[in-house]
Amino acid sequence: MQTLIIEIDPELCNGCQVCVKICPARAFTLIDKTAVLTGECTFACDHCAAACPQAAIKTSSPDFAPCHLTTVTDSTELTATPTKPGELVALMLARRSCRLYTNREISRDILTDLVNIAITAPSGTNSQQWTFSIIDKRSRVTAFGTEIAGYYRRLNRLAKKRWLRQILKFCGKPELDHYYHEYYDSINEGLDLWYEKNEDRLFHGAPALIFIGARPGASCPGEDALLATQNILLAAESMGLGTCLIGFAVEALRRDAKIQKTLNIPAPEKIYSVIALGHPALTFQRPAQRRKISINWID
Ligand SMILES: Cc1cc2nc3c(=O)[nH]c(=O)nc-3n(C[C@H](O)[C@H](O)[C@H](O)COP(=O)(O)O)c2cc1C
Repeated sequence: MQTLIIEIDPELCNGCQVCVKICPARAFTLIDKTAVLTGECTFACDHCAAACPQAAIKTSSPDFAPCHLTTVTDSTELTATPTKPGELVALMLARRSCRLYTNREISRDILTDLVNIAITAPSGTNSQQWTFSIIDKRSRVTAFGTEIAGYYRRLNRLAKKRWLRQILKFCGKPELDHYYHEYYDSINEGLDLWYEKNEDRLFHGAPALIFIGARPGASCPGEDALLATQNILLAAESMGLGTCLIGFAVEALRRDAKIQKTLNIPAPEKIYSVIALGHPALTFQRPAQRRKISINWID
């Protein structure tokens, strides 16, 4: 169980009960018009200190620290309502998957800031069991790409065997047959380009990769990791960087534990996203079109 050390200054507390009302663990009680900690701080969410109008609550823990960035001017002032609400939407519209990068590498300071921005995301029961591993050299990205290419070469060899696909299908496992029909040809093409022309259809020439995973024990590991991922995609866009999620790498990491080992990512960690990123070699001129959506209004 995670916990924060909570100190309430009875001189400052005016008994407004904000902490009593918002604590998800119901750890505060109003006694003699002053908030008193009577329960356990099981969420370590820090909402009490963040919301107290009197600044009467102080929280601390050796494991927690405020978000601090080095390459971006961060502000401790909260702007829940941005001065220009459309700015966030404009950023979201501008973010597109980047499949063309320059050779320029991204500094470790910027990559570290992206991770610090990622972890401002919500997490189930505030468990924050997400993990971040980073490759910041193009040569290392290529070495990892060769591992992934090897995985798909083996998979394509298996998928080519019609009899094997049929037997598996007969046994209620149609996945290999599905893969064959959906991906075999395009993967073969990508493999030819990788091995014969050094062309990178996998990571699109990106100089850096961020792997976002979760340690065992998180209540919602996939959701947590993907929310952190989206933060990185948007923050990178705001810094002028291009990003692309690489599902093919996630799939290979999940199916072949040996590949994860080559990255020194401990086996119990499960990877939920791989983000390729770098300086984009092209600028999108127009926002994306999306499939029309129909909302199910529930009365
Ligand atoms: C889970 C997931 C996996 C993806 N995997 C890949 C991938 O392996 N390679 C790739 O080029 N793009 C990949 N993408 C990017 C999608 O193709 C892209 O988001 C989609 O076409 C919409 O385009 P946009 O991101 O430019 O708006 C992936 C996206 C998601 C959400």
